[in-house]
Amino acid sequence: MKKVFITGANKGIGFATAKQLLQKGFYVYLGCRSQERGLHALEQLRSEGLTNAEILQIDITNDESVKNARTELGKKAEKIDILINNVGITGNMPQDALSATVSEFEKVFDTNLYGTLRVVQSFKDLLVKSEEPHIINISSSIGSLTLHSARSWKYYENANLFMIYAVSKAALNMYSISLGNQLPKFRINLIDPGFIRTDLTNNQGNGTPDEAANTIVKTILDKSIPTRKFVSEDNNSETQECPW
Ligand SMILES: NC(=O)c1ccc[n+]([C@@H]2O[C@H](COP(=O)([O-])OP(=O)(O)OC[C@H]3O[C@@H](n4cnc5c(N)ncnc54)[C@H](OP(=O)(O)O)[C@@H]3O)[C@@H](O)[C@H]2O)c1
Repeated sequence: MKKVFITGANKGIGFATAKQLLQKGFYVYLGCRSQERGLHALEQLRSEGLTNAEILQIDITNDESVKNARTELGKKAEKIDILINNVGITGNMPQDALSATVSEFEKVFDTNLYGTLRVVQSFKDLLVKSEEPHIINISSSIGSLTLHSARSWKYYENANLFMIYAVSKAALNMYSISLGNQLPKFRINLIDPGFIRTDLTNNQGNGTPDEAANTIVKTILDKSIPTRKFVSEDNNSETQECPW
């Protein structure tokens, strides 16, 4: 049974992904910042007969917490096959280029970039033991330099209001490229799940967390999907490739 560790799995896209993977027969470790919210998520899954899941308490902005989570997971499993770096925050307003503050940049980067870095570096040794190690980083098309500079892009106006979030996702994309270059035996995917109705978007959006999870799970099951590409659910072309 393949083992998956998902960060930010107590709600939203992470939770929907956990549920679908459990339904497909994976064993899932639900990375949750709050034990209480994690237990609530676990209960929800159990009530649907999905029992191959455990929670792993982790705050990805805290070195000690990440270290403890790695130690805990090491007691439960000798290896993990798939790591889904799903945690992300948008940060507070204002985020436009003339008003954004350094401290808000630091906060968003601490989660979206440094948090991912902490988790990858701490859990890599468990992934290396898998025959098919796979890392999926959840990004956003808002991090695309090409789209962000195109006036014709449908999110052009809004994207400029979320500049800190956009820069953090662009940085995550670059980090993911470097990670892929350094780990040639790993499958590395970078996914924009589309504009999804979750707490992160104040429940605005075009799709549901379940629809976003479909894209993520498809990337795990379908080995013909190319790795080291930036794929967007918002791009309706056949390849769904998103420009960097
Ligand atoms: N929704 C969209 O339209 C959309 C579009 C493009 C990309 N994305 C990306 O998709 C991913 C998931 O987003 P979502 O919409 O599902 O958001 P969400 O509903 O707000 O869920 C975010 C999850 O991350 C957790 N989290 C936040 N900070 C954390 C930390 N420091 N340590 C551990 N966990 C933490 C939250 O836990 P708590 O419950 O404890 O807060 C929650 O479980 C993000 O990377 C986001 O950038 C979303």
